[in-house]
Amino acid sequence: MTSHIKIAPSLLAADFGCLAREIERIEEAGADYLHLDIMDGHFVPNISFGLVVVEKLRPLTSLFFDVHLMISTASCYAQRFIEAGADNITIHQEAVTHMHSVLKSIKKQGVQAGISVNPLTSLELIRPAFDCVDMVVLMSVNPGFGGQTFIPETIERIKQCKSMIGSRDIAIQVDGGVNQDNAKAIIEAGATILVAGTAVFSTDDYAKAIKNLRHAPL
Ligand code: DX5
Ligand code: ZN
Repeated sequence: MTSHIKIAPSLLAADFGCLAREIERIEEAGADYLHLDIMDGHFVPNISFGLVVVEKLRPLTSLFFDVHLMISTASCYAQRFIEAGADNITIHQEAVTHMHSVLKSIKKQGVQAGISVNPLTSLELIRPAFDCVDMVVLMSVNPGFGGQTFIPETIERIKQCKSMIGSRDIAIQVDGGVNQDNAKAIIEAGATILVAGTAVFSTDDYAKAIKNLRHAPL
């Protein structure tokens, strides 16, 4: 069964000259989430977009706004992105010192909270956060850019994470380099939310691309 698999196209790979149209197309194509990559040129070596863009996009769609904060000051800005329209805020283990306090404050606002780990960050570091999060985001590339190659060791990390999560109601999201060829292994290892930028937006048929990812194991 793959009906519970959610596909989260990353806007980073969309045509920034016509974002409104891109969002309309992705919603029509059956996307579950809109993944919004916020980069500050400090935590990651790239700058993407910020609050104003999220605010302006919010009235255009009812898609779930999955905001991935790749910024050094995530603890200061989580609240602002919630006000801008986020339905989920994901923060990085590597960027936040007072993790418990920030996750609690996100949840208190009535939105979902995710915790993300870079490829070589030990999953043991996030175990204590399991009681405060809705989602663990396993980075399958080094964050900062779309279009990178999936790091194969991520498959083992997904399995490890799934076993650590046990019966808790926490989703595993995989972010970076996800495509038709690796989606099957990612889903079978235990991930239920697949972020995909290039694999969706670089095609002509977004619906087909989303379907190919969602149903990869069939
Ligand atoms: C990487 C971002 C990803 C990225 C995914 O730092 O967090 O969300 O946009 O893009 P693709 O699917 O092209 O790797
Ligand atoms: Zn992302």
